[in-house]
Amino acid sequence: MPEDTKPEFPKNFLWGASVSAHQVEGGNHSQWTVWELANASHLAKTAEKTYHQLPSWGRIKSQAEQPDNYISGRGIDHYNRYEEDFDLLVKLNLNTLRFGIEWSRLEPEEGIWNEAEIEHYRKYIAELKKRNITPVLNIWHWTMPVWFADKGGFKNSANLKYFDRFVQRIGAEYAHQLKYIITLNEPNNYASISYQQGRWPPQEKSILSMLKVYWNLVKAHRRAYKILKNIKPDLQIGVAAQLVNIQAKRPHNILDEMSTKIMRYAWNWWYLRRIRNQQDFVGINYYFTDYYNDFFKKKNPTQPVNDLGWYMEPEGLYPLLLRAWSRYKKPIIVTENGVADGTDEYRRWWIEETIVAMERARSEGVHIIGYFHWSLLDNFEWDQGWWPKFGLVEVDRAHGMKRTIRESSKWFAERIKKLSAPE
Ligand code: BGC
Repeated sequence: MPEDTKPEFPKNFLWGASVSAHQVEGGNHSQWTVWELANASHLAKTAEKTYHQLPSWGRIKSQAEQPDNYISGRGIDHYNRYEEDFDLLVKLNLNTLRFGIEWSRLEPEEGIWNEAEIEHYRKYIAELKKRNITPVLNIWHWTMPVWFADKGGFKNSANLKYFDRFVQRIGAEYAHQLKYIITLNEPNNYASISYQQGRWPPQEKSILSMLKVYWNLVKAHRRAYKILKNIKPDLQIGVAAQLVNIQAKRPHNILDEMSTKIMRYAWNWWYLRRIRNQQDFVGINYYFTDYYNDFFKKKNPTQPVNDLGWYMEPEGLYPLLLRAWSRYKKPIIVTENGVADGTDEYRRWWIEETIVAMERARSEGVHIIGYFHWSLLDNFEWDQGWWPKFGLVEVDRAHGMKRTIRESSKWFAERIKKLSAPE
């Protein structure tokens, strides 16, 4: 049994959780909140069509059919309650928080900085450090000021200068308080869902736009890396890449294998290869194992699935860790990993198997320095809204945003203690 495994993790291993500003803060005004208000009733009306096939449908139906579900609104009021939330981290034996800063708060209008908001995040970082929690600052997690989106966002390479200026400001204000910075969250997912699939703002469906955005996000990271290193040379900088454990459904079948190879390169490695000289660690967000069948068709087992219908194979992290290590030979941080699990049925199992996957990779020499669970708290899940529950801590938005630690998380906290203890 996994619980019998030996404490293989060093004392300084970063056991953490991740949050993103837009998904928890509340009270934001960005291109995403504008889109939410315009699309909430449509998303509610089409919920049945979108989600009725999910095993969780009966449980989520009433929430998923409410327009309110699709509006981030007051969030979970993390903007005001962050100190209380940091105390929860301590209770959970976590020593790290990956958190986001909201560009639209800091620079609500082009070139105009909100000093009070700059101060807010300074205090936020100080409160983490006061509790001996390592702050890992994430600069961009898909949201942007309306003025930047109106100029074409990351589709227009001439706009990169605005992102440079933002990074410069962040670096000047906070870098000296930090050891780790993540520049961008999941460039592949954003470029593909916002510009190819057209599900997220600005809802384009154009391969050309997708490629432009993707390439500009390569440039954005490279430039950010240089700017930040100039400010603080020993800062550890990376991206949080969404990597999928892609496998052939029928090993040795020529079509399955070809699709697998191409997808592995296109989805997982293309971006990381472009920035291989501008990253000090590889950040991996792992949620999916996908089996390819025939010509680029996905055919996953139908069980077990989480509330979002995502097939769950936590041990699929292991081959990804090995592959990422052999390609880049850089320390690895699992920057996101978790399950949408409103009944807390799977979370403990998922975390147990994930720990085993990391132990196995570590025993084979893969240098993993941290694991951040997604997420610390139930949060706003983009176009799916409030019903998917990813939190180690449950949040009851209808009753004063009450926070309750889930049973699986109590187990996780104990496990961390044992894994960190010397034999
Ligand atoms: C994103 C998170 C999101 C999570 C679960 C990741 O791709 O970075 O913002 O909440 O998936 O859907």
